[in-house]
Amino acid sequence: MPRVVCLPGDGIGPEVMVEATRVLQAFGISFEEHPFGGAAIDGWRKPLPPTTLEACRSAEAVLVGAVGGPQWEGGQVRPEQGLIQLRKELDVYANLRPAVGEGVDLVIVRELIGGLYYGGSGELADGRVFDTCVYTRPEVERIARRGFELARTRRSKLISVDKSNVLETSRLWRRVVTEIAPEYPDVELKHGLVDSVAMWIVMHPGEFDVLVMENTFGDILSDVAAGVTGGLGLAGSASLGDSRPGIFEPVHGSAPDIAGTGKANPTGMLRSLAMALEHGLGEAGLARALEAAVDAALETTPTPDLGGTATTREFGDAVIAALEVPVR
Ligand code: NAI
Ligand code: MG
Repeated sequence: MPRVVCLPGDGIGPEVMVEATRVLQAFGISFEEHPFGGAAIDGWRKPLPPTTLEACRSAEAVLVGAVGGPQWEGGQVRPEQGLIQLRKELDVYANLRPAVGEGVDLVIVRELIGGLYYGGSGELADGRVFDTCVYTRPEVERIARRGFELARTRRSKLISVDKSNVLETSRLWRRVVTEIAPEYPDVELKHGLVDSVAMWIVMHPGEFDVLVMENTFGDILSDVAAGVTGGLGLAGSASLGDSRPGIFEPVHGSAPDIAGTGKANPTGMLRSLAMALEHGLGEAGLARALEAAVDAALETTPTPDLGGTATTREFGDAVIAALEVPVR
């Protein structure tokens, strides 16, 4: 059984995935590739073929490149449906989105399968259109615990983000977070309103450690955090449930505008792989080694999105060259 299942997907997905598989080879970690997204629609007429899902279930971690592209837009079956189905099948409710840059090292913990994006929605007879934000106590509690536990492994500072001056779900959120806080006396907890936290991330991103929030706020603030730390090509993510496997994927999409040109920056993919090593395989030492090698490559061999001239492969070469495989 391979430890890691790789789903390259579409556009630049396969291009950045190749660099991740080279690192897996260097570490001697077994992996297997399976069709997913638009590529799977073309060959199997489904974005998540049953054989792919089966392979994912028995892996320790699932790595995803990116899915989508103009050729599948407007079709009956869409590549993104594969991603949404995979998240649901694996019940990954906690989305970790680190933002790392000059003097900045924060992680946003976003609730991924509840709230506004999953509540009832529709149109009333009189033409009014609605979406509803729903949360239950257990949903808030399990994601809050993720936040506290992650903060513990870092600088022990947690900000819980809500809009409790306006929203009922936010008041529940704040109550639950406050109630479980005494179980984590070593973590310094603060509450913040989403609008002021958004401004604070733009102006003083270096002051944050871990932030925990519901789905919609997390969707928006994690892109803000990616923006203040160098952009889409750099950001990775982990989506975790209570058991393995989690899903690890760069934040960017399939970038059809640069696919096939060798310009894709594989950093987001490689940082996602580092998270897979740490949270999926329990290989924190390898994760640190990979992160250090990526940081070194960013210094010496930047890709065009960072003002450099390196190709995807040249960046990958620099990572492999800088990789110090720890003795196990
Ligand atoms: P995108 O993230 O693919 O690209 C946005 C811009 O950033 C483009 O100019 C692109 O060239 C650049 N960019 C993205 N990743 C880069 C990288 N690693 N290195 C250098 N430059 C990079 O978002 P866009 O254009 O809105 O979507 C393109 C397709 O991707 C669509 O079909 C969309 O549905 C899909 N998509 C898939 C996601 C996923 O698989 N999780 C997430 C977001 C979009
Ligand atoms: Mg988003």
